[in-house]
Amino acid sequence: MLGGDGRDNGEGGALRNGTDENGEGRAGLLQVQGLAKSVPGGRRLFAGLDLAVGAGEVVAIVGESGVGKSTLLNILAGLDRADEGEVRVEGRALGSLDEAALTRLRRERIGFVFQAFHILPYLTLRQNVALPLALVKAKRDAIDRRAGEMLAHVGLHGRDEGYARDLSGGELQRVAIARALVHRPALILADEPTGNLDPDTAGTVLHLLARTVRGGGAAAVIVTHSQATAAMADRVLRLTAGGLEASDAR
Ligand SMILES: Nc1ncnc2c1ncn2[C@@H]1O[C@H](COP(=O)(O)OP(=O)(O)O)[C@@H](O)[C@H]1O
Ligand SMILES: [Mg+2]
Repeated sequence: MLGGDGRDNGEGGALRNGTDENGEGRAGLLQVQGLAKSVPGGRRLFAGLDLAVGAGEVVAIVGESGVGKSTLLNILAGLDRADEGEVRVEGRALGSLDEAALTRLRRERIGFVFQAFHILPYLTLRQNVALPLALVKAKRDAIDRRAGEMLAHVGLHGRDEGYARDLSGGELQRVAIARALVHRPALILADEPTGNLDPDTAGTVLHLLARTVRGGGAAAVIVTHSQATAAMADRVLRLTAGGLEASDAR
């Protein structure tokens, strides 16, 4: 299980929870200031965007289609660069990191859940969940054990050797969550993670995600259209051209 102390294995840095080397506390695990981004054609998506998310906090972001929610998440993950402003993850400014350092930060400290799952059908569930650990070169038996733990945590106990191609949408998204959290990321970013699920399944998946985030002391930013997400979030913010504002969508 992720949760409790969340640092049980002593298998090396790749599997251990992060500590705050910058002495800034975990209160501002994610800090965003003055972010601005235009699309390549020149149209401005947002400007002056500020956001702070603390450890154990779940923030939901809502907003019209095309307003820039996915772009924002990609910037927070270091997959895209802002035109102005700064993103800090555990005190480290993404803009100050080169591509290699960004990749390392992403692999070790960030977990991403996509709407379209991106689970590989011809791999087993264990192989899918283990992928992030393989990227950070953890030891084989530690990887397998941890992947099994995460599958159990999302209600897929003992299904390790089953193939992803045989799963329902709700099960696939649970595997995607297990994969996003398997390396104990500090920051979890989810882009409409329940967009393809029926409302009941979406509720189950979101509760699982929120419980894991809170139990593990991570921070989560979840883009969503779902009422269920808004209901379980600590805060709901609306993305507009002027940045993020408090939303009454809950
Ligand atoms: N690489 C790109 N080139 C041009 N326009 C883009 C690119 N990526 C995104 N856009 C545009 O930026 C806007 C915001 O996209 P997106 O972040 O996906 O919005 P959302 O997730 O809120 O629906 C959209 O109008 C989209 O067409
Ligand atoms: Mg989007």
